Amino acid sequence: MIRVRFEGPGGQVQDVEAPPGARLLEVAQNAGQPLEGTCEGQMACSTCHVILPAVDFSRLPEASEEEEDMLDLAIGAVRTSRLACQIVLNDTLDGLTVQIPSAHRDMQGR
Ligand code: FES
Repeated sequence: MIRVRFEGPGGQVQDVEAPPGARLLEVAQNAGQPLEGTCEGQMACSTCHVILPAVDFSRLPEASEEEEDMLDLAIGAVRTSRLACQIVLNDTLDGLTVQIPSAHRDMQGR
């Protein structure tokens, strides 16, 4: 099993385990994290946007051009942002920390 730590928008920490091959978006949703993932992995929504610590970001395979384009549209995206639907867990990602940005709708009002 691969350990993943979610840090919620309010700073709450949740540790979960998932099998290799699981998609990060589904792991997050199964854990009750507020990631919408509206397009279910079609790279058409960016509501599955997550932020990684630099050290974990560098452990991930590089984002595709399509993913980069979607991230450009994601609200609050930073250099170490990724789309959770494009991240498939494997053994090299054990101990990954994933930050869930505040709910997308709320971000408009900040
Ligand atoms: S779920 Fe829509 S881009 Fe990831």
